[in-house]
Amino acid sequence: MSHNNEFSLEKKITPLTHEEIDQLLLNYQDEDYVMPPFEPNLVDNIIRSETSKIEEISRNVEEATLQMSEIFKFVKNRDEIPIAEIKEEIVPMIEMATDIPHVFHLFDELQQKDEYTFRHNICVGVIAGLISKWLGISEEIRREIELAGLLHDIGKTKVPQYLLHKKTPLNDVEFQQIKKHTLYGYGLLRRTKHLPEGVAITALQHHERVDGCGYPFRLNGSQIHPYAKIVAVADVFHALSSERAYRPAMPFYQVIMKMQDEASGRFDTEVLIVFITKMLDSLIGKKVKLTDGNVGTVILNSPYHPICSLIKLEDNQIVDLQKNRHLQIVRVLRE
Ligand SMILES: [Fe+2]
Repeated sequence: MSHNNEFSLEKKITPLTHEEIDQLLLNYQDEDYVMPPFEPNLVDNIIRSETSKIEEISRNVEEATLQMSEIFKFVKNRDEIPIAEIKEEIVPMIEMATDIPHVFHLFDELQQKDEYTFRHNICVGVIAGLISKWLGISEEIRREIELAGLLHDIGKTKVPQYLLHKKTPLNDVEFQQIKKHTLYGYGLLRRTKHLPEGVAITALQHHERVDGCGYPFRLNGSQIHPYAKIVAVADVFHALSSERAYRPAMPFYQVIMKMQDEASGRFDTEVLIVFITKMLDSLIGKKVKLTDGNVGTVILNSPYHPICSLIKLEDNQIVDLQKNRHLQIVRVLRE
């Protein structure tokens, strides 16, 4: 290739300074183009507004969790679901939380330890809503999927409560009792008026798996309702990410790796791939610690193996985790 090639890089670099470009732009003003005013505080303002949005979402998740505990009590005592209250008060909060500026912040929110049973339902609603958005599902259907996520475990109001808080692993008999929450939930929701049928079916099918290894009926992929396929991914992600009475919370990357390993047939492939890719994309720009102790920033994720990121270390060296399979991300660092 000739050095005098007209496309050589040197000729493409503009010799103009920023000031000279600003001057050109000022002279360029016409009806179609008005130069935006220069606002040195713009970035600060964006960060501030994102922070206040995240705080607002955090307050909403707290409030929705409290309301969910009241709803669980109501269902337990009255054997009916206050669906109007849920639609008017909780669903809008869920919908708002799916607008979170960076999904990773949601992960912090979801990891809170207390009141697992109630918080879990809220968080599954939010994650199911996010997955639906990423899949390009219409707003109307998305609301139904959020509601399905919110109420997927409502049948737990009907199982012996000590089993939900047991500090040791469940034995076979106890596990059989817990499994029945799917049937109880379906029964409760099926007889609730003004409820889309996918919401009741999700309560019944959210533990079914595409490869037929789930419960209660060991259905195969084509028999499982699409809402239940989305809620299944949200449910497992949040359950693994949370501290439970019998085990600590699993770090984010371990959860993603575990879910990816189980992808071979257990979850709906499209739902799982979209979920994992979007969750990992939310970490671009975040600081992470690697298994060799190094700290770096995630700069890119591989489209084929999203967990194999490109990391820029503190000494500016670039590490490709796809080529260095012995290295993994241990955890995301707080800033
Ligand atoms: Fe469940």
